This record gives sequence, structure tokens and C-alpha cells, in this order.
Amino acid sequence: MILLMAWRNVNAIYQIYPRSFNDASGDGTGDLKGITERLDYIKGTPESLGADAIWISPFFRSPMRDFGYDVSDYRDVDPLFGTLEDFDELIAEAHARQIKVMMDLVPNHTSSEHAWFQDALSARDSDKRDYYIFRDGGPDGTPPNNWLSVFGGSAWEFHEPTGQYYMHSFLPEQPDLNWENPKVREEMGDILRFWFDRGVDGVRVDAIRWMGKDLQLRNDPINEQYIPGDSDPYHMVRHEYSRNSEALDCYLGSMAAVASEYDDKAMLWEDHLDDLTPLEAQVRRIYNVHPGVAAPFNFQMMHTEFGSRSFARTIDEYRSYLPDDARTFYCFGNHDESRLVTRFGDRQARMLAVLQLMLPGTPVVYYGQELGMQDADIAPSQIRDPFELRVPGRGLGRDPERTPMQWTAGHQAGFSEAEETWLPLAADYTTVNVEAQQRSPKSFLELHRRLITLRKQYDVIGSSHYETAHVDDDLYSFWRSDGVMGFLTILNFSDKFTPISIPEGGVVEVSAQGHDYTTYGYVAPYDGVVLRYSQ
Ligand code: NOJ
Repeated sequence: MILLMAWRNVNAIYQIYPRSFNDASGDGTGDLKGITERLDYIKGTPESLGADAIWISPFFRSPMRDFGYDVSDYRDVDPLFGTLEDFDELIAEAHARQIKVMMDLVPNHTSSEHAWFQDALSARDSDKRDYYIFRDGGPDGTPPNNWLSVFGGSAWEFHEPTGQYYMHSFLPEQPDLNWENPKVREEMGDILRFWFDRGVDGVRVDAIRWMGKDLQLRNDPINEQYIPGDSDPYHMVRHEYSRNSEALDCYLGSMAAVASEYDDKAMLWEDHLDDLTPLEAQVRRIYNVHPGVAAPFNFQMMHTEFGSRSFARTIDEYRSYLPDDARTFYCFGNHDESRLVTRFGDRQARMLAVLQLMLPGTPVVYYGQELGMQDADIAPSQIRDPFELRVPGRGLGRDPERTPMQWTAGHQAGFSEAEETWLPLAADYTTVNVEAQQRSPKSFLELHRRLITLRKQYDVIGSSHYETAHVDDDLYSFWRSDGVMGFLTILNFSDKFTPISIPEGGVVEVSAQGHDYTTYGYVAPYDGVVLRYSQ
């Protein structure tokens, strides 16, 4: 079986959070024209990062309660980000540079302001009522079951005028669609065709697990491990019935089938693995949905404890479950998770960049990761994320990793001409920025550029052959080879110079910490070294 034929030669995907990348209109929030202006940064010049694709988080019409993950019109661009013509221009300019464009589809829920939901609220017998999940409350008026919203509280909201509850896995302003209804599947298919016909090359599909709910609406079992007040209250229950039902495969298949009507359109599932089912079964199931066009992200690296053994174990285990020829899409950060440097430190993040960009498949790099951007401090008055506002003080907020891209040391880091930006800049922008790093051969940016272009130069890095070479308490090394040539990647997870013996004849292509190795007797603290071997 050949897996994911589409996007076969894409070396890396660069994730753009459009509010924060570049503001061309000068209103303090990023926009589509802003992205177009910066495409040379992605690809096309000797200084470019060299990534073959961008994924743009949602830019559709939206009341922005969840910053675009609440879509009120799937076929239009929100005025904050520009117009459909701006999008057409973005696509044309991206394609002129051989950059593929991936958009973000949010199929689990719409905005409560979407015309379908407004119609559904108008009467119990509305045509659109069954596009959503409306149910009667219990005899005492309580919600239909104990399902929880990811963003705090019950997953059910009472609608007084029609006397029923509706279900929302996220905010009450993000009502869940009813994927059992074939009309919903058809609508989403048509939306996909609308964007594919406009030139979109791929789709990242949001929150897929939540699309599949138990049709009997059984209560989720109580999670005995949950410590009240200590962790995310969403985990008070085990999400056995509220998500990931058997029918999910069919819903996903209906979307992937649309992608397969075209040439070279890829679909990436935002799927979070959980501990309710064996990992192997989850991996095999998701890779099986529509192998020609679709594959999942791997988010495990965002939750792996720092250490040679833990990273090696997680990667080895995952890889052992992959079907032959499967493509992997490792994310080490995104708009929902704390940034790498903040999680582990500067030198550690450089080393992990080497790990990510030497693994097989297609790595996904979150904007600013290539600069070593950190989570910013957000004062209480500056909090924008509804998650933090609804479940405060538990470190769940996502504003810190969504601050403006740091282009220069100048006004608003070169992101905007406005006096105020939608989120504040991180304090370190005067030193951590594109302009400063493009001139510095040992910078984060240069490290990423080097690794991403290496992936382009040598197909063997993207192809699937991977073999762990060595793991101990400090070191983790692995081979990537095709029998003719190979790369050995050595990662030193310790803060000590660590002795190592490696085969003769390798050429050092990359050192995460910028060391010149003249002898191969040791690896410097937190270094990630890539050696190339030709046969
Ligand atoms: C996952 C997205 O990445 C996140 O940002 C969003 O809040 C939820 N899905 C809901 O759409």
C-alpha cells in the first residue's frame, strides 16, 4: 500500500497563525496581504527558510470568539484578514515560488453566528435543526448527559426559546455539527471543493476526534485519577463516549474522498492520541482512513519529557506501529502549546530542532520556532484566549505562544505599524528577530534554514527509513539512509561534553550549537550533530 502519495516531496510545512505573522493593513492584527508580503522569507531567495509549504490557521469569516476556530462563513475571508481576492493573490504568489498552501478546516463545529445555526435556533422544525445536536434535558431540567466542554463547564447549553439543549465540545459559541446527518457531510464536501478549486493544495482538519460521538449519548465515566483543582477540569471524566466513536472513520473518509477527486491534495488530521485505546490501534486506525491523501499529525513531541531515553522511546514506539511507507508529520510546537525554548531552554531547543528536522516524513514548524521565540508574558488585562478566561490560572491559556512574529528590532518588531498590536510583543524581540539572525551564521534561523534546505537537497531525509543507532542516559543517535548514502544524527541531551565513538568518514553537515568538530571524540553539551556518509 502506498501512503500519502500527495505532497510526496514537500520538505517542511511552515505554520502561520495569521493574526500574528505580518500586518499589512496597520490595524495591529496580521492579515493575508501581510503573509503575501513575506513569502520570500519562506522560499525563493538564498536567505529564505526554504520550506515547500505553508499552513495558515483559519482566516474565514468569524466572530473570533476562538480566533477563527469559530467559522460563520466557510466560503469567505474575514474582513480582518482581507478579501477573497487577497487570498487568490496569496495563492498565486505562493505558487509562483513553488510554495504549497494548506488551509485549516474546522468541521466539528461552526460559529453560533453561522446561518445554519441561526436557522436551527429559529424553530424545532427548522431544516437546519438536525445539522446540530439538540436534545431535551433530563426530567429535572439538567443537561442531557455529563459531557464536558474542552474550554470549561458542561458541553450543553440550554436554548430557552426552543426549550432544548445543544451540544458544544468547545465554547457555547461553537455548536457541534451533527456528522451523522449526510447533509452535513455533503455541505463540508462542497466547502472543500470550493477551496480546492480556488487553488488550495491541502487541508489541516481541526479537532477530528470530537466529530465522532456516541449516538446514545452515554455518560462519560468518571476519571478516578483526576485531582480536583490540580489539572485541567476537562479531564474529570474519561472521554469514552463524547468523542472518537466508530463512525468517525466514515466522517473523515467523506472529506478525504473529496481530496482524492483532485491531484496532489493532502489532508492532515489534527488528532490527539489518548490512553483509552492501545496506541497501536489508534495509529493504525487513523492511517487507514484514506491512505492515498490523508495522514495525522504527531503531537507526542509536545508532551515528551526532556531526555534522550524518553524521546528515543516515544519515536521508536510510534514508528513501530506505522504501516509500511507511512508519512509522519511531527510537530514540536503549535498555536495551542507552549513554545520549545520556554519548555526546555535555548540550547535544548536548538538540539530538538535537529531532531525534528532529521526525522522522516514532513516536519511542521510553527512560526517563530525558527527564531527561538519564547512564550511572552501576558498581563491579566491583555489576556485574549477564551480558554484562559474560562479556566483561569492553570496555565492553559494560549496567548503566550501566539504573540507577533519578530521581524526586526524596530517599531512593533516590524510586524505592524499600529500603536498597539492584538497581543503584546515578547520582550526579547530586540535581539530575537529575523533581521538580526539572518546576519548571524550561528543563529536559530540559520540552523533551521540549513536543516530545511538539507532536506530539500537529500530526499533520503524525508523518506521513511529510520533506525535508532544508540541510546543511553545522555545520548540518542539515529541513522537515515537509503543504502547508498546516509545521515547519522547524534543528540547530546546532557550539559556535559560526552564521549562518543562514531564511524569514520562522516562529514559534519550541522551542529546545533555551531561547533566546528575536528575530531569525533565527543559531542558538546546539548549539541545536535548531523554527519553525512556517502558510500
Ligand atoms: C484545535 C485548535 O488547534 C484550537 O486552537 C481550537 O481552539 C480548537 N481546536 C477548537 O477548534
